[in-house]
Amino acid sequence: MKFIKLFLSAAVPAGPRRGSLTNVYLRTFRFGPGEPMSVEVIVGAQWGDEGKGKVVDFYSETAELVARFNGGDNAGHTIKFRDREFKFHLLPSGIVRRGVTAVIGNGVVINPEVLLRELRELEAKGIRNFRLFISERAQVIMPYHIVQDELEEAVKGGLKAGTTKRGIGPAYSDKVGRFGITMGDLLDRELLQSKLELAIAIKRNLTAAYGRKQDFPLRKILESYLAMGARLKKHIRNTSTVLNQAIAQKRSILLEGAQGTLLDPDHGTYPYVTSSNAVAGAGAIGSGIGPRAIDWVVGVSKAYTTRVGQGPFPTELTDSIGDHMREVGREFGTTTGRPRRCGWLDLVALSHAVDVNGLDALALTKLDVLGGLRRINVAVAYKIDGEKVHTFPANINMLAAAEPVYKELDGWEALKPAEWTAISRRGLSHLPSAAQEYLEFVCGELGVPIELVSLGPSREATIDLRDELREGPLQRP
Ligand code: IMP
Repeated sequence: MKFIKLFLSAAVPAGPRRGSLTNVYLRTFRFGPGEPMSVEVIVGAQWGDEGKGKVVDFYSETAELVARFNGGDNAGHTIKFRDREFKFHLLPSGIVRRGVTAVIGNGVVINPEVLLRELRELEAKGIRNFRLFISERAQVIMPYHIVQDELEEAVKGGLKAGTTKRGIGPAYSDKVGRFGITMGDLLDRELLQSKLELAIAIKRNLTAAYGRKQDFPLRKILESYLAMGARLKKHIRNTSTVLNQAIAQKRSILLEGAQGTLLDPDHGTYPYVTSSNAVAGAGAIGSGIGPRAIDWVVGVSKAYTTRVGQGPFPTELTDSIGDHMREVGREFGTTTGRPRRCGWLDLVALSHAVDVNGLDALALTKLDVLGGLRRINVAVAYKIDGEKVHTFPANINMLAAAEPVYKELDGWEALKPAEWTAISRRGLSHLPSAAQEYLEFVCGELGVPIELVSLGPSREATIDLRDELREGPLQRP
């Protein structure tokens, strides 16, 4: 197939930064004949909201376990499954599929109230025979975390991240501060009480220092969290063991990342980031498996870029093209409803995501949304202080000053959802030729193959290239 050959030619040293040839070889030869991939990680390659929910749902068709490893109910994804729509913040996407075991790993912070609500909604929509395991080590979001989130945002002024106010940052800081509360603690009255006594004393002082006198009633909190623990008890266990046993049995596992690379506190646009690592390496830490158990890493990116919350965004568009992306792409937050900032695809940022995640492949979503734009820009470098830069700066002021250097490409026509679905059915070569050139340009520049192209929210509007990659020019041995 022409497109696959292009993946390969893109890899030949002429300029691309990384050999996609190697990547294709890896996908083909890393697994023995007839052996399915056992552990795949799917991460956001941008600022979150890349459409991971749909991609994970798509990949989970062949997965036996789907595990979340970071973030909390700051995330939000919408899944369309058999005419039903599910909006999850905490539950792994795969939970709606019969036979899939859903896992919430130790790296997640859990608001048990939200989790219980999502489980009720799931049952109300007819999904009853699900299997859910929650790590006993996952941290719990407590009422004081939500208050603290709001108070800290208020004092941060221009350095505030524009959080989702779900208490995410404070819950993670208590974890590393060593006075967090875990899901396992909710099953142990004595331990929970002693931990709460310490935490509440600290939080009373803290909120007073921020100018708000707030009494967090120990007894009431203790009883209500013990009651929620009792309701979740049947799900709580050592999920590292669950996953490692599955690995030993060569069952296929999908690790589902929340947020995205540029929101990662180590590798993102710090301090305008979230508080848990969102890169692929966190897939191992946040689920309790070894790093070498991970076979394949997929980064999800939109065909353009969006961001919610504060922070620099070099390719942001505040004009009618940005409005087109927001309206056609329905770019409003699942968790907060906030309109998302929109802009052109940024290959400087995406190359950074390729590096820090070790991406084997990309899943590109929302290509249909660009339909109807006459010309399409893609950032291939930045100009900072008159100098051309190809690497993603850590310094936030430099990033704010970065002017994108664009490559201009031809646009393609706007099509109706049914037309995109028909193209998906027929395959890549039926895409408008300018859209094919766009994809070729992106994977050529990044040196990473695109193994999935999404052309709309439904499962049918997807071009799946995984088989071509595995069984194309480079056959399995
Ligand atoms: P927090 O995670 O609520 O602390 O918010 C920190 C930053 O991450 C803010 O800019 C949020 O808008 C952003 N953020 C958190 N979760 C998501 C997500 O799932 N998608 C996109 N942005 C997110």
